[in-house]
Amino acid sequence: MNKKNLFHYNSKILKVSELAAIAVYDFIGKKDENAADKAAVEAMRTELNKLDFSGTIVIGEGERDKAPMLYIGEKVGNGKSGLNFDIALDPLEGTKITANNEKNALTVISLGNKGSFLNAPDVYMEKIAVGKGLPKNFLDLDIPLEETLNNLAFYKKKKINDLVVCFLDRPRHSKISNIVDKYKCKKFLIPDGDIFGAIATAIKKFKIDIYVGIGGAPEGVLAAAALKCLGGQMQGRLIFNDNKQKTRAKSMGIKDLKKKI
Ligand code: FBP
Repeated sequence: MNKKNLFHYNSKILKVSELAAIAVYDFIGKKDENAADKAAVEAMRTELNKLDFSGTIVIGEGERDKAPMLYIGEKVGNGKSGLNFDIALDPLEGTKITANNEKNALTVISLGNKGSFLNAPDVYMEKIAVGKGLPKNFLDLDIPLEETLNNLAFYKKKKINDLVVCFLDRPRHSKISNIVDKYKCKKFLIPDGDIFGAIATAIKKFKIDIYVGIGGAPEGVLAAAALKCLGGQMQGRLIFNDNKQKTRAKSMGIKDLKKKI
């Protein structure tokens, strides 16, 4: 996307996500995840179709047969400008958080040139993310978390026990939790919504130094897109539980299934 288009569509895309958030407002705390999600999806789709580009959803609500709207492959926009973009979105990230009137649900949308996004299948992803001001390629999922925490404390000129580590509150993260306990770091546990967790590392007011753990792969792509704009860093690696998931990923164009991205 050239600078002129970037400026032009930035405010328009922001408006799409704002209107989706406003549409969800009436469903906050109403214990109805589906209704909240539906409101966000409908608002996002209506607003996207008013824009003058041709957009293809590459990260969306899922497959066409399972998602009536904003499914992967769906075309949006009215096409008048002749410009073509790929779109990654999650109309309501944190449906449970919203239904339970908890914090930090998001309406998420990202626009890029064709081929900008990893076409992530709906599998889990190992993720690690930090904010800006750290050396290039600071993160590596193969470096033990202890070592990364020590390095992070060094570069941030903090004591290791002052680091704030964010992760989803899930039993699968017990190893992470033990390491965080061992070094007496501060825990920022989130019930859902790890796009927030990753992005928050790059936003000072949240005081999160690092996000780590396993969450959804589509959410990982969206978080990485946002962190790129905010100057943060993130690394991810897809997790496959069976051959069906591997075949699906290959059919979506992912050649090296073990690659760190
Ligand atoms: P919602 O379905 O409530 O929107 O939750 C989304 C989410 O918490 C993501 O942020 C996260 O990546 C994923 O679900 C975690 O999946 P799981 O709940 O299976 O651990």
